[in-house]
Amino acid sequence: MRVVVVGCRGMLGSDLMRTLRDGGIDVSGYDLPDIDITRDISALDWRGAEWIVNAAAYTDVDGAENEQAAAAAVNAQGAANLALHCARAGCALLHISSDYIFDGTARIPYSEDAEPCPLNVYGRTKLDGERLVRSSGCEHLIVRTQALFGKHGSNFVRTIAERVKKGESPLRVVNDQFTCPTYTLHLARAILKLLLISARGTVNVSASGQCTWHQLALAVAQLVQPRAVIEPISSVESGRLAMRPAYSVLDKGLYERLTGGPMPHWMDGLREYAAEMGWTEKVNSGGKG
Ligand SMILES: NC(=O)c1ccc[n+]([C@@H]2O[C@H](COP(=O)([O-])OP(=O)(O)OC[C@H]3O[C@@H](n4cnc5c(N)ncnc54)[C@H](OP(=O)(O)O)[C@@H]3O)[C@@H](O)[C@H]2O)c1
Repeated sequence: MRVVVVGCRGMLGSDLMRTLRDGGIDVSGYDLPDIDITRDISALDWRGAEWIVNAAAYTDVDGAENEQAAAAAVNAQGAANLALHCARAGCALLHISSDYIFDGTARIPYSEDAEPCPLNVYGRTKLDGERLVRSSGCEHLIVRTQALFGKHGSNFVRTIAERVKKGESPLRVVNDQFTCPTYTLHLARAILKLLLISARGTVNVSASGQCTWHQLALAVAQLVQPRAVIEPISSVESGRLAMRPAYSVLDKGLYERLTGGPMPHWMDGLREYAAEMGWTEKVNSGGKG
């Protein structure tokens, strides 16, 4: 199977390249500056490709509040450009979307058909991207995910680990937003499974379990600097520019039915990530997404 990954040097894209290659897939990747999905994508060589995976995005959630046009160009128009190209070329598009399309007022996990209602610009542009992919006429799979951490990008887990290792304490972290922190290597393995079974439609894929960002920070500190103090604060106290959902846990029932098993727990992802980053001793991975 030949697969083209766009956004191949990003946090998820890098792990996807490695995981698909290890899984025996003939994979090639593109990213800025070679390909800009908001502009001309004709240089993208997808001859013979069965799938294009779109892992490219504008991902600065607070930045998007002041850069609406830039976020929309990548997350909505860029996704549409790829989708229309896929429709013409007859290959399928796997597009990555986000839990931030939801407002977080639910108290049970969001299923794939729950009503979206984004609270911030980033979420609105991701939702527009989903809608444009669906209306393009291309064969597609939309994978919604959340709270990513991985080796090849800056992320919350890495920031907390680096700050507590430097001795910064106390740290103040929001304790009123629930999520499923997801290791990009586990997500990449899950995506490989979905590609191999030619899944279509919309599927939620994030780690099993749930926690607040404060609970996640405590777990990180426990691994790398147990003496660090992590104080819980509210979203209002955090003063972030973009509003975020209080509860955006994704329901993975469909993913489990399609692939025959659950996603690894976020704590397992965290332990594997900490070992990969050299913060702790290597752990026996065991979990195979
Ligand atoms: N990170 C999270 O917590 C999270 C949560 C939910 C969903 N997601 C979704 O998961 C996907 C992967 O996220 P990620 O965290 O891996 O993102 P990332 O690390 O920011 O990677 C995105 C990649 O896309 C590239 N890119 C940006 N604009 C582009 C353009 N116009 N044309 C081509 N490539 C472009 C970026 O290049 P530059 O670095 O040069 O800009 C980067 O290499 C995205 O769809 C994101 O919305 C992420």
